Amino acid sequence: MNLYVYIHIPFCYKKCPYCSFISYEKSISTKHLYLKALVKEIESFFLKNNSYKIETIYFGGGTPSLLKPEELVLILNTIKKYHISKACEITIEVNPNNATKNYLQKLKEIGFTRISLGIQSFNNQKLQFLQRLHNAQESFRAIENTIELFNNVSIDLIYGFENFNILQEDLNNAVLFPLKHISAYILSIEKGTLFYKQKVYLQEENVEKQFLYLIKFLKKHNINQYEISNFAKKGFESKHNQAYWQNYDYIGFGLSASSHINSVRYKNTDNLDDYINKVLSDKSPVVYKERLNIDKQIKEAFVIGLRTIKGININNFNQRYNCNIEEIFKKELSKHYELKTLKKVRGSIKIANPKKLLISNYILSDFI
Ligand SMILES: C[S@@+](CC[C@H](N)C(=O)[O-])C[C@H]1O[C@@H](n2cnc3c(N)ncnc32)[C@H](O)[C@@H]1O
Ligand code: SF4
Repeated sequence: MNLYVYIHIPFCYKKCPYCSFISYEKSISTKHLYLKALVKEIESFFLKNNSYKIETIYFGGGTPSLLKPEELVLILNTIKKYHISKACEITIEVNPNNATKNYLQKLKEIGFTRISLGIQSFNNQKLQFLQRLHNAQESFRAIENTIELFNNVSIDLIYGFENFNILQEDLNNAVLFPLKHISAYILSIEKGTLFYKQKVYLQEENVEKQFLYLIKFLKKHNINQYEISNFAKKGFESKHNQAYWQNYDYIGFGLSASSHINSVRYKNTDNLDDYINKVLSDKSPVVYKERLNIDKQIKEAFVIGLRTIKGININNFNQRYNCNIEEIFKKELSKHYELKTLKKVRGSIKIANPKKLLISNYILSDFI
């Protein structure tokens, strides 16, 4: 059975004012204990579950690139003792400040196959607004250094709040490079963040205009949208993310990580001390566990699948879940076909057009 592995590194040099991911400003003493716990958590999972074939490993955060190469090796070696697929996609999120030639060379030697750079923008004004630790020049240098060593490079961009010209400038700069993948996120103002407290808000009209422009622009450069926020050259769609959207089994290790294994959903604690103490004293860090009955599995798989551009292939879906999805959602589907928010094309159900992707949460809430 295939397995997709996520590793969470919850440390950052400085917390960004928009970010609600579970991450803390760097603390070396905790980092050491955290890694000890992380390795132990991985080890104990695979000791009990050693028949999986690992298809992807994804180091996310936080800032995994603040780990030293030897710390990354320690984690990877713990996993590599088990059955890793030959074509395993091994990704790490790298902050531009860490993307030095020397560090990237080490990442390559260790076995990473894909780099995801947190560029966010090539514009100094925008980077300052986001209070990033890097400037435009460092955005360029980070990409130059990375593409010299890696074929499969992705960048993250944030947009939706700036003036339209700046988005155009960012996109023009992005396509100067032979990038294989771009994740472009509309800035979301999340509860608990500094931007939320400061009541930063976005103009809907601006967001829609930018979203539609971005899709069209990247398509012209053969970087095609395959999920709301994700764009790739053909064959370079992230294997790891696709596993989530296809509702495959995945395991998350580390603080706040979630997993979905054999129809059970798990979530680890998001309290750092609690995580370390529990794992190091042989207790489970899981604080939430839910066995999904078949109804829930079908609903979740349907809703997650609809986030992708190709949507849900009806025959495949019905076979996998031994169901008739068009019967189950008869009422909801006819409502959304009528509203032209969803459409049925060549045996697949999908979001009707790119504009509707922006209200996808509202559409999908009808199916939960
Ligand atoms: C988990 S973060 C980690 C990446 C890395 N630490 C960095 O900041 O470069 C992954 C990506 O999520 C996006 N992101 C984080 N907070 C966001 C927000 N509030 N709105 C939109 N995108 C966000 C950013 O593009 C970021 O690169
Ligand atoms: S955006 Fe990245 S660097 Fe900034 S706080 Fe979030 S995880 Fe850390």
